[in-house]
Amino acid sequence: MIHPHGGMLVDRTLSGRERQDAFENAHALPRIELSERGVADLECIATGVYSPLEGFMPEHDYTSVIDQRRLPSGVAWTIPVALQVDEDRGTRVPVDAHVALALPDGDIVATMLVTSKYRPSQAHEAHRVFRTTDQDHPGVATMFGEGPVYLGGPVTLVADIPHDEFLEYRLTPRQTRAAFEEREWNTVVAFQTRNPIHRAHEYITKTALELVDGLMIQPLVGGTKADDIPADVRMQCYLTLIEHYYPKARVMLATFPAAMRYAGPMEAIMHSIARQNYGCTHFIVGRDHAGVGGYYGTYDAQKAFDEFSPDELAISPLRFDNAFFCTRTGQMATEKTSPSTPEERLSLSGTKLRAMLAAGEIPPEYVTRPEVAKVLMAAMAIAR
Ligand code: ADX
Repeated sequence: MIHPHGGMLVDRTLSGRERQDAFENAHALPRIELSERGVADLECIATGVYSPLEGFMPEHDYTSVIDQRRLPSGVAWTIPVALQVDEDRGTRVPVDAHVALALPDGDIVATMLVTSKYRPSQAHEAHRVFRTTDQDHPGVATMFGEGPVYLGGPVTLVADIPHDEFLEYRLTPRQTRAAFEEREWNTVVAFQTRNPIHRAHEYITKTALELVDGLMIQPLVGGTKADDIPADVRMQCYLTLIEHYYPKARVMLATFPAAMRYAGPMEAIMHSIARQNYGCTHFIVGRDHAGVGGYYGTYDAQKAFDEFSPDELAISPLRFDNAFFCTRTGQMATEKTSPSTPEERLSLSGTKLRAMLAAGEIPPEYVTRPEVAKVLMAAMAIAR
């Protein structure tokens, strides 16, 4: 089995009596209510998705990640994961003391030993992580919106982060690793997505699966921007698609609890590190991975992997060119595999696809499977 990033799979959760005591004691501590992104980060840290992180990043980790794209230990890491708070809270939080971390509704779920409190240049962070300081970029806007004071220190989960949906698909890295072992999959390719799976996605996942033992479709279900399709609707799409078009013995569906940052190239690296922690050996990186608007070049996310040696990232990226339907050969293809002229390459923009679905029109089968289109149309009708 592939080793976790940095060597050890982190587990910052307590159980039994110890957890009960820690939970009760946490009520006497100063309390910090987390944002949606904060809760997602906490879950990723505590369950080992972000191994080797054991907590939110203290200043020296943060600086090293921003400047070197590595943790102080030299381990590759491209996006800071700090607990950001507003000015008022920041002034009151004690350093070298414990605090309780709560959900937005106030329920305590974790404790944190605050070892570091700092106010970095957020413009510099935006530039290094997102390549832009433009606040129209959803990731940049969220980063600024989370607050100017950064807190770092180890966390301990003292209660479950409650979820009421897709529970059977919420697997921790320990659970996916056990599942791969049980299925005797030595090589597993992970597919990150924040969209329904359309034909282009289906093509690249199946092409990747030809090379390995198993495919883990792992949709991101943490926070996304308002105009992305909600996770519950997407989950229905994935289940429907797998039911009709994928071989069940070779495909696993599991959720990825992280929040979307839309950091394109830098996020592609983080997505692959997380999947290595889940036990995957390969990771799909297609066109404009984790991109938004026109901020990144089509293949910038693929190029980002060239900055790291295989010693630094054990998981291997599988790079895919832009996929489309080729009318000349009558199949899904990329420029690499198709002799087509540009006119013979069919695809539909996300905006056009949405407009068709909203108008109750079934999109062409070369764009999306009819069963998936139906799920999306039904969800749109309910939303109206
Ligand atoms: S992402 O934010 O999670 O990257 P999306 O769900 O659209 O967005 O993409 C999931 C994966 O499929 C990414 O690796 C992306 O690069 C890839 N991808 C999406 N559309 C295409 C396409 N037409 N051709 C090749 N790869 C694609």
